[in-house]
Amino acid sequence: MKKQINIEIDVYNHLDELEAEEQHLVIKAKEIAKKAYAPHSKFYVGAAVLLENGEIVTGNNQENVAYPSGICAERTAIFYANAQYPEQAIKTLAVAVFTNGKYAEQAVTPCGSCRQVMLEAENKSHQPMRVIMVGEKQIYVSHSVKDLLPLSFDSLE
Ligand code: THU
Repeated sequence: MKKQINIEIDVYNHLDELEAEEQHLVIKAKEIAKKAYAPHSKFYVGAAVLLENGEIVTGNNQENVAYPSGICAERTAIFYANAQYPEQAIKTLAVAVFTNGKYAEQAVTPCGSCRQVMLEAENKSHQPMRVIMVGEKQIYVSHSVKDLLPLSFDSLE
């Protein structure tokens, strides 16, 4: 027997196809990407999270010469949001990349560790988080982190 697991994302070709609030979030992610500390990879990632109270928190990747000591943009933004506003659900997260002197053409998709952290944020708030993965050629939008992490770990509590 085989089991098929389907995930769904919306694909847009241009930023103005998104709602104004989400366009604004994408612009914030793109702005903060340029301020990333990424001297080793030169892959400058920015993330912006929109909280339930309307506040936007941004973060970017922070690298280290001892590579595993660095951290991705998504986790920088989420952990900062959780630290400052522990009770606020994250409604939407946008992530964008600036590299080789321009914004990436293909939609940037979060790494596994960030997906795990995003899932925890989604589960603790009991509401789905929208994830906007930005590329100049196309923008992917996931309606829940669950779609980005099928068969995720469950502590079985
Ligand atoms: N990176 C992020 O910040 N977010 C992602 O979604 C993918 C990868 C960072 C980690 C590292 O600093 C650089 O991009 C290259 O992998």
